[in-house]
Amino acid sequence: MRKRYLAVALAALLAGGSAAAREYRVGLLLPYSGVYAALGKEIQAGFELGLEHYGGELGEDTVTILPEDTEVKPPVGLTKAKKLVLQDRVDVLAGLVSSGVLAAVRDFVDAARVPLIVANAGNIHATGEKCSRYIIRVSFSNAQITRPMGRYLAEIGVKTVVAMAPDYAAGHQDVEAMKGAFEAAGGKVLKEIYTPFRKTKDFGPYLTEAQATGAEALFVFYAGGEAIGFMKQYASFGLRDKLPLYAAGFLTSQLYREAIGEPALGSVNSLHYLTTLDNPENARFQKAFQEKYGRVASEFAVQGYDAARLIVAALAASRGDKEKFVDAARTTTFASPRGPWRIDPRTNNIVQNIYIYEIVKGEDGRLVEKLLETYENEQDPPNGCRLAG
Ligand code: PHB
Repeated sequence: MRKRYLAVALAALLAGGSAAAREYRVGLLLPYSGVYAALGKEIQAGFELGLEHYGGELGEDTVTILPEDTEVKPPVGLTKAKKLVLQDRVDVLAGLVSSGVLAAVRDFVDAARVPLIVANAGNIHATGEKCSRYIIRVSFSNAQITRPMGRYLAEIGVKTVVAMAPDYAAGHQDVEAMKGAFEAAGGKVLKEIYTPFRKTKDFGPYLTEAQATGAEALFVFYAGGEAIGFMKQYASFGLRDKLPLYAAGFLTSQLYREAIGEPALGSVNSLHYLTTLDNPENARFQKAFQEKYGRVASEFAVQGYDAARLIVAALAASRGDKEKFVDAARTTTFASPRGPWRIDPRTNNIVQNIYIYEIVKGEDGRLVEKLLETYENEQDPPNGCRLAG
């Protein structure tokens, strides 16, 4: 078998052609069930479009994806990561939506020396004190999204805020970063309220608690199924005029903005992507995504799309050598639908613009983003990470 392969490869080389085509395997660790199921499917949709657009850069070589459902559960995520690496022998891992699942797979990925391209999970420790050469993030970090919101709240003159978020890593990190920036600029967070993650259906008691603080504004992080439930109850409590809403933009993501409907109007959000960004890559991306899937692409789709493109570029530069793959992935950049970005060599975290916007009704009745402010090249501090520069 081996001899035959070598003979074929040699013949191809002598004929001036390339060696036999390789099949690279990418393990996609995403939630396909649970509160973030829609996010996982959207990231995969973007990833597949990215492969369609850029897979050709590998010539004869191909990429096969192996999706595994993390169920938004850390132990399940770790089991699936081990399966993909030890049994399926993937060349690369990609995905991860929940900060909790990313924390659970971190040590295994680092020890196995398998590259992991993070396509959502914002856990600051994965590119901070628990960073790894093998973990490269092309999505965002939790602090990167909400630190500008803290600054913005202070800039527009808000003095007091109450915060709400799910009680797990991402919720705490989103609130802490907003609070740090807001209080450094003279504001005060009166209370932090954490709701049981994946279990809270009734946000009523927490909304009552938030209102009782007398804060001028409410800051929240919720995503997926929790975001829809939260927004509907916030609106039915009649809080829009009493306790204006500021949020990490996943709250009103394009992915489920229409499902939220009118309650999304007037919320002010911070995020690394707007569906309406005016650049050639976004025009091409949105057109192709809408043709393929029949809906407007969200930030999650962009993250999948860029992860696929980064993986293709790094595979083309490394051809199966994992160390070379990491070197290439850490130093590659390209024009993204989200605008300019690069990987910080100190941490393997992404550096990118963060946009503050309000959800308004567009001319066609669609709920769209109205840009209020851009914070350029938002970069996390190394937070104890010391990767070679
Ligand atoms: C996270 O757990 O890091 C997370 C999950 C969903 C989001 C954003 C961040 O939309």
